[in-house]
Amino acid sequence: MTSEQARVPVDATTTHAWGSLTELSANLVPDLRGWFAADPDRAGRYTHQAADLHVDLSKNLVTDEVLATLLALADEVGLTERRDAMFAGEHINVTEDRAVLHTALRRPSDQPLTVDGQDVTGDVADELAKVYAFAEKVRSGEWTGVTGERVRTIVNIGIGGSDLGPVMAYEALEPYVQDGLEVRFVSNIDPTDVAQKTADLDPTTTLFIVASKTFGTLETLTNARLARDWLWRSLVAAGAIEDSDDGRADAVAKHFVAVSTALDKVEAFGIDPANAFGFWDWVGGRYSVDSAIGTSLAVAIGPDAFADLLAGFHAMDEHFRTTPLDQNVPVLMGLLNVWYTNFRDAHTHAVLPYAQQLHRFPAYLQQLTMESNGKSVRWDGSPVTTDTGEVFWGEPGTNGQHAFYQLIHQGTRLIPADFIAVANPAYPLTDAVGDGKDVAAGADVHGLFLANFFAQTKALAFGKTPDEVRAEGVAEELVSARTFPGNRPTTSILAPALTPSVLGQLVALYEHITFVQGVVWGIDSFDQWGVELGKKLALEIAPAVAGDESALAAQDPSTAALIARYRELRA
Ligand code: F6P
Repeated sequence: MTSEQARVPVDATTTHAWGSLTELSANLVPDLRGWFAADPDRAGRYTHQAADLHVDLSKNLVTDEVLATLLALADEVGLTERRDAMFAGEHINVTEDRAVLHTALRRPSDQPLTVDGQDVTGDVADELAKVYAFAEKVRSGEWTGVTGERVRTIVNIGIGGSDLGPVMAYEALEPYVQDGLEVRFVSNIDPTDVAQKTADLDPTTTLFIVASKTFGTLETLTNARLARDWLWRSLVAAGAIEDSDDGRADAVAKHFVAVSTALDKVEAFGIDPANAFGFWDWVGGRYSVDSAIGTSLAVAIGPDAFADLLAGFHAMDEHFRTTPLDQNVPVLMGLLNVWYTNFRDAHTHAVLPYAQQLHRFPAYLQQLTMESNGKSVRWDGSPVTTDTGEVFWGEPGTNGQHAFYQLIHQGTRLIPADFIAVANPAYPLTDAVGDGKDVAAGADVHGLFLANFFAQTKALAFGKTPDEVRAEGVAEELVSARTFPGNRPTTSILAPALTPSVLGQLVALYEHITFVQGVVWGIDSFDQWGVELGKKLALEIAPAVAGDESALAAQDPSTAALIARYRELRA
């Protein structure tokens, strides 16, 4: 297939493989107990290594034939051609006519790439050097505020991709954060967010990073103005600056930096472009944590750890780019998601990290997956012919076990789930006392934690039959309630430890899974037109909310009544 043909989506539902998968699904009676019994090597054959990630797919509801047919589908829709087109910088973001080159953000600088006349690798390396130099200045105390104090708190102001990636990674890599530095994240335009995050801050030791790809996002610019006003007021109150234009300009110069692709708008806000870090329109917001959007993270964990993160991303990119498809983990996981969505009627997908530090990972994945694949037209504008993007959700284990796992184990819906764990915890603790019963004195608590990780996927896969329940002496009328059907599909991902590299690998894994699904569905996974209407209407409605009667009269009856009620209630 030529790159030009790669621009025309193949309708997956018309492929030979799609027909075969429909038939296979109709005849498939999931039987993980039977399949494992019949094939002692199933776990081995269905387990793959992707960089440092050990990925066990064996508890999924697939046979060799299903997998082979899914791979045939990948072939028929031109997955490898489109993957290669992405890595080469072709404009596969068709509706915005842009290249999609987040993979270039972590490409080693000795592997040059020129796209649309731009020396991509050179520009990435230059910008990264600027971010690293800034990070070192803040970390060493060379960067000071108006009173000469070093920075102790960084407040990242951004939303969506300019928030979720940095905050997720900051939480995940908390053990790598330099002592004496803290990063806070303000995203919501709810004024509570900025108020709470600044309430106990010392303005003389606070640095704001305004992160916005477009520098036109209402939430971020409003919060940036609130933060700037807070800074001015509190510095004046502390006697740290004069209440004058010069005093205020000095405060912004020393306490505000920006990250954006729109450096002219940064300057208009009052931030010196010398204190701004750029990136490019070929980096989607939700794919930008490894660009300058990660500046807050780079300061917190330092350039070495940030470079390690990028190396992890790159390792997964290389796995995706070069591994044969039948052992290619993002390809296999993406195809499994297609299988469950289009052939097994699954509507959602749970991501369950058994790592407290990954507690924001599901939220991060929600933007990555759902903003990317929540589409109903294909990249040529024609309607899709099958379901697309699943709802991604999740919470860290074991908290989820005590909340919603009941539905996964015994509910009526099929919920494929990814279980993610690391072998070595950041905080290895032992229970010195034990409980004298189930938990021995001196027990390794991480071992206890991961026993849950292993137990859950086992319970979901193999369940508990009525006879097994009866054998425990359970009264007959309770047998059905205490039976576990099993055959609930899971993927287990196990990494050595949550290092920056492993985090990069995990994020890149899900980026590429998302890509694979988008290719099968023929959609542009890199635009997000669906967020525009609500943004525009909010701006149109704001005057009505503020009291403009003609703007209120222009609303539909329901919206008008709600706004009127709000105005009555608002003190
Ligand atoms: O509204 C959605 C969105 O455009 C996301 O795609 C993006 O990550 C977010 O808004 C923030 O955009 P920006 O970084 O331009 O402020």
